[in-house]
Amino acid sequence: MVSKKMESALNKQLNEELYSSYLYLSMSAYFEDQNLSGMAQWMKLQSDEEHIHAMKFYEFLIRIGARVQLDKINKPQENWKSPMDAFENAYEHEKFITKCINKLTDLAVAEKDHASSTFLHWFVDEQIEEESVANDIVQSFKMIGESKSALFMLDRELGRRGAAQQ
Ligand SMILES: [Fe+2]
Ligand SMILES: [Fe+2]
Repeated sequence: MVSKKMESALNKQLNEELYSSYLYLSMSAYFEDQNLSGMAQWMKLQSDEEHIHAMKFYEFLIRIGARVQLDKINKPQENWKSPMDAFENAYEHEKFITKCINKLTDLAVAEKDHASSTFLHWFVDEQIEEESVANDIVQSFKMIGESKSALFMLDRELGRRGAAQQ
């Protein structure tokens, strides 16, 4: 049986994943407003993926006989200084989520909660991918500088991202 402390920490992470989904949807709306439809599509799929992450916590809590507690979702930022600023924000956000997952994993170990530890392993791996992908895009922005044609090409490239897998 999961401890109350672990149950509450897992519910908190469910909320963080829902907030992530909300934040990326807000970034998607910002990119639509900037006429960068490829980046808007990329962020919409990222938002879908975060919702899937939230549901993994939801389903895990139910499977272990814990109570799902849905808290309010914070209002996300609406505007960014530039497209690059939005992706830098996404990269910073993923680093924050990695810290949350690491803390949660530390708690599972401290509580000798092997079920939660095993469940969280997937997220530890996923965060390596999430940080790396966001950072690669930030690096692409740094390379293109002020070039409008390169921004157009990057928008095209990001728009080719496939539907969320997990
Ligand atoms: Fe996530
Ligand atoms: Fe993420």
